Amino acid sequence: MEDKVSVMISEEEVNKRILEMGKIISEKYAGKSIHLICVLKGGAFFMTELAKRITVPVTLDFMSVSSYGSGSESSGVVKFVKDLDEPLEGKDVIVVEDIIDSGRTLSYLMEILKKRNPKSLALCTLLDKPDRRVKEVKVDWVGFEIPDKFVVGYGLDYDQKYRNLPYIGVVEV
Ligand code: IMP
Ligand code: MG
Repeated sequence: MEDKVSVMISEEEVNKRILEMGKIISEKYAGKSIHLICVLKGGAFFMTELAKRITVPVTLDFMSVSSYGSGSESSGVVKFVKDLDEPLEGKDVIVVEDIIDSGRTLSYLMEILKKRNPKSLALCTLLDKPDRRVKEVKVDWVGFEIPDKFVVGYGLDYDQKYRNLPYIGVVEV
């Protein structure tokens, strides 16, 4: 059966915000190059859109951690599924995430990445659900703060579905 998905943030709004974020980040890193780290799979859509709007030189790498089963609640267990291909030593690194919810995944990940001696390490997320935070994590750029609702689209899934929606939606249950 098809679920009903309602629009929370339209495609136009998301695109407009990513354009702004690309501009802000490009200005901040003027004269430098940026090493973007995508947290798979959810961060992939946001990362490619953001990368296209950054005007300083960019390199990319991908990693995959998993803190969720097939449901919608964080288990608190973070599993390393795929590590980065490149070292971070001396690089200006920005981690790109789809959403920060409890903060468990990212607080764990940022600690690990810090130990690899990047020149700088920042965090950029498309969405933030601050009401759900249980682990503190410093976020440098947030696309949208959203209420405590389970969202899909723009990389975010519900049981691996809906990642390809070009907007942020809520599955009606
Ligand atoms: P955290 O460790 O609780 O911050 O969870 C972060 C990860 O949980 C995100 O990268 C998403 O993969 C997933 N997640 C959290 N909230 C949502 C949601 O509303 N929709 C889809 N995935 C979510
Ligand atoms: Mg994610």
